[in-house]
Amino acid sequence: MQRLAVLTSGGDAPGMNAAIRAVVRSAVGRGFEVVGVRDGYNGLVNGDFRPMGRRDVGGIIHLGGTQLGTTRYEGLKTVQGRESALRELRAHEIAALVVIGGNGSQSGAAALHADGAPVIGIASTIDNDLYGTDISIGATTAIDVALQAIDHLRVTASSMKRAFLVEVMGRKCGYLALMAGITGGAEVIALPEVDTEPASIAEELYAAYQRGKSHAIAVIAEGAKYNSDALMRYFHEHRERLGFELRVTKLGHIQRGGSPGVFDRMLGTLLGVAAVDAAVERRYGLMIGMRDGKPASTPLSEVAGKTRPAETRLLDLAYQLAL
Ligand code: F6P
Repeated sequence: MQRLAVLTSGGDAPGMNAAIRAVVRSAVGRGFEVVGVRDGYNGLVNGDFRPMGRRDVGGIIHLGGTQLGTTRYEGLKTVQGRESALRELRAHEIAALVVIGGNGSQSGAAALHADGAPVIGIASTIDNDLYGTDISIGATTAIDVALQAIDHLRVTASSMKRAFLVEVMGRKCGYLALMAGITGGAEVIALPEVDTEPASIAEELYAAYQRGKSHAIAVIAEGAKYNSDALMRYFHEHRERLGFELRVTKLGHIQRGGSPGVFDRMLGTLLGVAAVDAAVERRYGLMIGMRDGKPASTPLSEVAGKTRPAETRLLDLAYQLAL
């Protein structure tokens, strides 16, 4: 019987458990023996494997996080680290390794595959910045979590005629900020992809009051040129001239911990099954993502090291609709 291993790597994302469940149950159904690798690549290089059957993935589809545990492991950037991983894969007679994760994880998968490992990636990151997929596991749930916070902040902002700044995750890609900003009706959105100066953020917030709004909300990506800390300093320094205060909420890791919504459960399920299809067909060295509403694969060598930017043209739309 052929053996398939599955691991989750990098930042956890809601829907990873749905993907683990789909990989395990569909692989068992297709005749594989399945092993789960604990704590991502860290567990791989240390041989931390455990057998997994259908019942081991019961009651997890609705849970955020990852049942297998995850780490940000940098060791695969070294020849030594990759050799340890290959040694463990050989020792455990792994015919296919499924890696559920984001950019760093898929780059690690690409490096392992280049060294001869039978790897298949599954696109999973709340940032939705992976090349080769329209959407990645976890992104829509993370937006919903951010959106709920923005909705709550708007209630108090409107009641007290205040300006709020909400910082959302996204170091290199502004997808989360853009989506949460548009659907949360923000007056200002700042992304890593576009330089937005503090003076123009202040101007837009002030203009919102001038237009008769009872609140003003700015959604800022953590990786924007001026993040919430920098903006707080600016607003503090210029408080008297600006004539209004800014209150700040950093959502941080709260965005990662949501219970996966319908979309992420389905996405994890479809991508998990498609990864096992690839294993059955011995198609390795690719990442399974979603393109045009269907599971689609992209060579890991094309995915590695790239970041897909947010669609900044949507910023114009956001500003028009916030008028
Ligand atoms: O997994 C992606 C992400 O949540 C980014 O949005 C964020 O910048 C980063 O991870 C935070 O990383 P860590 O959990 O290691 O602090």
